[in-house]
Amino acid sequence: MRRKIAAGNWKMNGLAASLSELEQLASALPPHAPEVIICPPAPLLFRASETARGSAIHIGAQDCHMQDSGAFTGDISAQMIADTGATHVIVGHSERRAAHEERDRDIRSKAKAAWAAKLTAIICIGEALEDREADNTLDIIAGQLAGSLPDGMTATNSVIAYEPIWAIGTGKVPTLEQIVEVHDFIRTKLTIRYGAEIADMIPLLYGGSVKPDNAATIFQAENVDGALVGGASLKSADFAPIIMALAQS
Ligand code: PGA
Repeated sequence: MRRKIAAGNWKMNGLAASLSELEQLASALPPHAPEVIICPPAPLLFRASETARGSAIHIGAQDCHMQDSGAFTGDISAQMIADTGATHVIVGHSERRAAHEERDRDIRSKAKAAWAAKLTAIICIGEALEDREADNTLDIIAGQLAGSLPDGMTATNSVIAYEPIWAIGTGKVPTLEQIVEVHDFIRTKLTIRYGAEIADMIPLLYGGSVKPDNAATIFQAENVDGALVGGASLKSADFAPIIMALAQS
């Protein structure tokens, strides 16, 4: 059985007062909840880890640098993230690929840096609208998988999030058939590269406008093991029903 994961990406939202959402979420979780990960902005990582301690919630960062340390003003290493008590880190989010020109090989290096710091990497891939419209989705996904995933991937050190860029923050969600097609394709590619035993256990998350009212439909897909949620992860009242839908899927 693959583990189910509901991950929340707060992006550049949240101040210290937002940690009350974490407390509320922790108390709203059912006893056998799926794995829940909250990725707050970096300044909140330490306090979020303290707040979540003893609860079922894990804390993750939204990005890391590929080097351990050095003259990289403003950057944060995977080791530093682990030092806050966080256990996960998102790498290769499309907003970083776009705004910070991160390439597949950068993301591969970041995933390796995450592993070296004993963090689980949540590696993001996804096609742009023009790729989808030109019927290039699977080629783009294949290229991102080949370029962004390091050798040595396992279900313990990594999670993959498929996030079509055109679905992020737009309220537009692919059809269930489109989600199934890409997730099945990813599983097949992982099987070819890492072998069935490893590939079968790697959690595949869907991301892009997941909300309480569409989560149950998305979780019907066999190769969807959870979600990476942006906007609807900011409030416990929105995120808790998504976690419940996953628990019941
Ligand atoms: P969204 O963001 O749920 O607000 O669409 C998803 C993401 O970027 O991870």
